[in-house]
Amino acid sequence: MSESITITDNRTGKSVEIPVVNGGVDMKAIQGLMPGTWILDPGFTGTASTESAITDLDGINGILRYRGYPIEQLAEKSNFLEVCYLLLNGELPSAAEQEKWVHDVTYHTFVHENMRKRFMEGFHHDAHPMGMLMSGIAALSTFYPEAKDIDDPFNRYKQINRLISKVPTIAAMAYRSSIGMPFNYPDNELDYSANFLSMMWKIAEPNHVPDPVLAKALDVLLILHADHEQNCSTTTMRVVGSSHSDPYSAAASATGALYGPRHGGANESVIHMLSDIGSYEDLGPFVESVKAGNSRLMGFGHRVYKAYDPRATIVKEQADKVFAVTGKSPLLDMALKLEEIALNDDYFKSRNLYPNVDFYTGLIYQAMGFPLNMFTVLFTIGRMPGWLAHWQESLEQGQRISRPRQIYTGVGVRDYVDVGSR
Ligand code: CMC
Repeated sequence: MSESITITDNRTGKSVEIPVVNGGVDMKAIQGLMPGTWILDPGFTGTASTESAITDLDGINGILRYRGYPIEQLAEKSNFLEVCYLLLNGELPSAAEQEKWVHDVTYHTFVHENMRKRFMEGFHHDAHPMGMLMSGIAALSTFYPEAKDIDDPFNRYKQINRLISKVPTIAAMAYRSSIGMPFNYPDNELDYSANFLSMMWKIAEPNHVPDPVLAKALDVLLILHADHEQNCSTTTMRVVGSSHSDPYSAAASATGALYGPRHGGANESVIHMLSDIGSYEDLGPFVESVKAGNSRLMGFGHRVYKAYDPRATIVKEQADKVFAVTGKSPLLDMALKLEEIALNDDYFKSRNLYPNVDFYTGLIYQAMGFPLNMFTVLFTIGRMPGWLAHWQESLEQGQRISRPRQIYTGVGVRDYVDVGSR
């Protein structure tokens, strides 16, 4: 059997044989065969936009691996900063590499005072922290103009380091500003996740040491969010990066993509949905209205997973640990019942709709005290290393500028008519 496909243009009778490599066919080969004819694939449902060696996602069998390591092992044994290193460098760090990496991140967590005084304080009092974070990330490019030198690997490392270090600081700053509380400076004695919790919650105590169970749970959730191959925001990062924008501008664009309720905003939407349903009696009618197409079951379904999202299984385990410290979320039983109803319903079964990572993360975040509008901000902190690993990989691949074609369906040529004659 030949590892290739043959495409014939029946208008001309010409054929081309294209090899299948790693399950993909290079469609550039058909351009010579049928010039002016394009592959139409809105939403890229059947298009691989790139080759990548970062994340292996098998949605049929519910498998997720970073650089070959199963997500279950990383969630259990690793930590977020180590996973960042792994995604960015392809290998787990040696002890010396780990020490340097953690040091470099820990000692770059401060941001320029103007970011807080002039920038964050300029937002309206009820500004959404996700909008503030997106703007803050974009603003970093003005503090580090040398970031435009994307061809220098050392310069790239500096910007990657800064983005991973400073995003939690800006995120906490956005939250503190939104509740009218003074900003807390980073605490270099704490690890990455504990430091973020300290910047969020510290009030008057000289040192705020978060509950280790909660800090660990947050760290695991960041690992689960760290990469997910060519999702909407990562694709945005690669597309913007392909024009050779600086990484802050590209990461701000990716943050905008993550903001939407079909992507990173789903965790917030799940809580809104559960709160709006109100009571157990209303679960059945709600599911019926979803089936009638009136709304979506948020936190369910995925473009790639046609099985249980492996991240959702780990999130459920973390939920038990967090609730043992914080007390159970009043919405948990509703969520469990809703999952049970959906998993036994033909509508969801026939479409392979299962809970995704966002179905339970919101319940954990809420129990930890995060307001709803911070949920997607937490997702952004977690996804940053994945975006940066893909940005770096695409530059190393020498990716051409992303420039898809379109199928024009508008009006043909016509003559301009003066306004008085229209
Ligand atoms: N509730 C009800 N029906 C659904 C849902 C849902 N959550 N998701 C998909 N469907 C149905 C959809 O109506 C369609 O049915 P039909 O074939 O009869 O028209 C079918 O399932 C296929 O759906 P689709 O919209 O074509 O699937 P997609 O791959 O374009 O969209 C999705 C994927 C994640 C946007 C979608 O499942 C969705 O909107 N889910 C809810 C939002 C959500 O939880 N998003 C978080 C995703 S995981 C975290 C992340 O990556 O950001």
